[in-house]
Amino acid sequence: MAKKTGKGRGRKNGDRPVKDAPQGAGIYVFGRARPSQAGAYPIHGEPERDTKFRPLPSPTGAPPFHFDLRSVIPPSDYQALVTAKKLTFHVNGDMGGIKNGMDQQLVARGMEADFKPKAPHSDNPAFLYILGDCVYYNGEVKEYYSQFYEPYEFFPRPIFAVPGNHDGESLAGEEPLEGFLRNFCAKSPLKMPEAQDSNRTAMTQPNVYWTLLTPLANFVGLYSNVPAGGEITAPQSEWLGKELKSLSKDVPLIVTLHHPIYSADDHHSGSTRMKKVVESAAEKVGRHPDMVLAGHVHNYQRITKHVKDGTQVPYIVVGAGGYYNLHHMMKVDGENMIPPVTFKDKEGDPVTLDRFSADHHGFMRMEITNKLIVGRYYTVPRQHEPYTKGNQLLDYFEFDWRAKRYIPNTLPTPVPSAVLTAHVRGRKAKKL
Ligand SMILES: [Fe+2]
Ligand SMILES: [Fe+2]
Repeated sequence: MAKKTGKGRGRKNGDRPVKDAPQGAGIYVFGRARPSQAGAYPIHGEPERDTKFRPLPSPTGAPPFHFDLRSVIPPSDYQALVTAKKLTFHVNGDMGGIKNGMDQQLVARGMEADFKPKAPHSDNPAFLYILGDCVYYNGEVKEYYSQFYEPYEFFPRPIFAVPGNHDGESLAGEEPLEGFLRNFCAKSPLKMPEAQDSNRTAMTQPNVYWTLLTPLANFVGLYSNVPAGGEITAPQSEWLGKELKSLSKDVPLIVTLHHPIYSADDHHSGSTRMKKVVESAAEKVGRHPDMVLAGHVHNYQRITKHVKDGTQVPYIVVGAGGYYNLHHMMKVDGENMIPPVTFKDKEGDPVTLDRFSADHHGFMRMEITNKLIVGRYYTVPRQHEPYTKGNQLLDYFEFDWRAKRYIPNTLPTPVPSAVLTAHVRGRKAKKL
């Protein structure tokens, strides 16, 4: 117990004096904002975060760090995808339910309900791909059971991931990404001690940045490290360029990373640094990803970049996968946005926020064929809502990845477009 040393100075918060402690009001303090809200103060005495860049661990596989879906699923399942020319999968991010596991469980149950036992194999998700922040707050090995193995105990397919900042923000006593390496980049598919009574074995991805090869799409997964806004350095940045250049153009190339390039939330926002990494690699080799998937922001946003040649690139944030705290969207002139809303990014490139959900957790289901990427985003009930409400379809889109354009049969927006135009017209475009 801290010794009370004078008027208003007896609060316990480490050994730091409370900067704005009331003077002359006795030793009692109440009804005031936490000192942490003025910045530079530890919240609830939790350790101060160390968000510096961490060196990457040694790869567990050989360059160019390719991992084929066929090595994980039964040959007959793989052949079914090839024959149907269709791949279905789930995408999600920021899933660890450290403070309150119920949200994560509700999302897990929602994803399980998205499997249709009698549907053809290609119509059921072949895997779940996590966009980082698998385990909060520090990717600890001891948290893998409660935040990973237990919630997805009954998810009937393999789970892949790229690490997020929380997976890499190691504490003293653990190496950076130690838990992630053990459970996602194992040398062989062993059952780890941290899996406890779950039957799921460790995944065997070849590195913390890696490419998932499938017959219908390739997923180039980046590790954007711990610092705010992400940080990607050589050799990973060079590897990205090589992947963009060398991967087949007969199937779409999807880049996955934790820190989003674009986001219209009011907490993290997008990362110009990540934009530079991806854009400069793409410009150098003359091939841009067909789609970019990210997490980190705890909500859902479908943002579309309009390229000068008339093509479009979807940048989708899928980060409401289970962590209890959802992130709000920013307001324009004090008002809530009603999508679609078009902005200009810091380089003046126009991007449109097409759809978002910031008040529910949820998950994304995608289907890829030799022509289209079809996306469905479902919200799941919140804890206070009836569980019988089930999954609610919030967004639906069809993207022609060969023509690099949406095809116009997305779900109608709930507000007439004339109102939207009036809402956006006359407002100065904000920079994301
Ligand atoms: Fe997160
Ligand atoms: Fe994050």
